[in-house]
This record gives sequence, structure tokens and C-alpha cells, in this order.
Amino acid sequence: MPKWIIYILLTMTVLAMIPPAVIARARSSKNSKPRIHFIQDMDNQARIRAQHPSAILDSGQPLFADGRGMRRPVSGTVAQGELNVDAHLHEGVLWGGWATTYPPSLPVTEAFIRRGQERFTIYCQPCHGAVGYGDGIVNQRAMELVNNPLIANGTTWVNPKNIHEPEIRDQPVGQIYNTITNGVRTMAAYAAQIPVEDRWAIVAYVKALQRSQYARPSDISANRADLPLIDLIPPEETE
Ligand code: HEC
Repeated sequence: MPKWIIYILLTMTVLAMIPPAVIARARSSKNSKPRIHFIQDMDNQARIRAQHPSAILDSGQPLFADGRGMRRPVSGTVAQGELNVDAHLHEGVLWGGWATTYPPSLPVTEAFIRRGQERFTIYCQPCHGAVGYGDGIVNQRAMELVNNPLIANGTTWVNPKNIHEPEIRDQPVGQIYNTITNGVRTMAAYAAQIPVEDRWAIVAYVKALQRSQYARPSDISANRADLPLIDLIPPEETE
């Protein structure tokens, strides 16, 4: 074999060992500098981090008088897509009172009520129980703890409402929508977890549950196949 081939091979072998050596060193050594960042885009720039104080000006004063870096939205402004002018849809209010009908954009179909059933099972059943009597697993556990003198130590528990109580059964759909959206007394609001359409679907299912426990004789004599599902709302609540 000619000598020059051996030289080239030797040189290449030595050169090939340089990258692994550099990587091995980088992996085992510590460096306080940020890593090399070739394409900057806008990754690094002057900013105030969340929950940090506001910048201090050359004059020694903070940029914002209260010294906080985080600001509230300018009052009177509305984020894009959050105008929510439809009070019927977003607040359950119609003509200044609780809406007694569903928003026209949300027809109450079987699929809609089934969606409500699924969401109810996820968000409401743990407290209110599968049928709504207020006997969910969370309530059962809480009662166990409250009734145990060794643990309770003065703790109290407000029972989730039985949605079949007459006062709740008589509530217009808009009011139940509002209970889900804003909470009521000790019950928390679910607006952050449940989108508007799903809240209405849950309302429809709550109405179906209520109707299921207070069926009228006329419910079975009628030909159910002919009845529109909207009939799940008791007549006194339709307009
Ligand atoms: C963490 C437990 C809990 C969950 C989950 C929960 N609730 Fe409640 N709910 C309560 C309690 C407690 C009350 C009674 C509040 C009171 O009287 O202080 C209540 C009351 C109610 C009432 C009666 C309101 C009134 O006007 O008296 C309705 C209707 C209701 N809940 C529906 C729902 C629906 C629908 C969901 C699911 C989106 C839900 N709740 C999820 C605990 C819960």
C-alpha cells in the first residue's frame, strides 16, 4: 500500500475523533453562559417577567407607580372574540329575567342532551350524584369525614343540592345556566372549565333528569316517537 494512503487514513482517523471529544467535554463541563443561539428571532429581549416588579427608571422611580410589573387590562376594553353581547347565550338572561328558553343557536336535539349527560357525569355527578339527588361520591366521603369526631374538628359541609327539590325543578333554564357559569353560594363557578355550549347542554340534561323523576301519566300515553325532544322542558317553562 502506498505510504500516502496510510497518511490520509491516519489523518482522517484523528480528525474524526475531534467532534466526539468536543461533545464529551461539553457534556461533562458546566457553563454559566446561555447556550449558543444562532437564530435569535425575538427570543431574547428586554421584558418584565410575570409576578416580577416593574422596571426601575434612571430616575430611581418604578415604571409603574404601584411598583408592579403585571398590569390589569385597560378598563372598558374587550379581548378579541370576548364581547359576548348575546345575554341569552352568555348569561342566561332574556328581557331582564332568567331565560325560559334555550338560545336559538342551540337546538335541543338528542345528541345535544347526550353531550350534556356526558358533561354532567364529568363535572356535576361527583357532587350531585348520577340522578341529581345530591348523593355523589364527594358528598358521601365528606359526610364520612364530617361525622367522624376524630377528624371533623369543627369542619362543616354544605350538601350539594338535590336538583329534584321543587324550587330547583321550577328554575328557568337560564337560572341553571347561571348556576353553572357563576356558581351559587358555596358551589363554585364552572365557567372556566366548561364552554358555553356545553353548559347549555348540561342544562338540557338537568331538565331531562328532573323530568325523569317527575314523569306525568300523559308522558307514557303519548306516542313518544312523535314528541319533539324539546318537550323535555316542562310546559310551564316554555314561552
Ligand atoms: C364540588 C361539589 C359540586 C359540584 C362538582 C357541582 N355542584 Fe352544584 N351544588 C353544590 C353545592 C354544595 C350546592 C348548594 C350550595 C349552597 O346551598 O350553598 C349546589 C347547588 C346546585 C344547584 C342549586 C342552585 C340553587 O339555586 O339553589 C344546582 C342547580 C346545581 N348545583 C347544579 C350543578 C351542576 C349542573 C353542576 C355541574 C356543572 C354542579 N352543580 C356541580 C356542589 C357542587
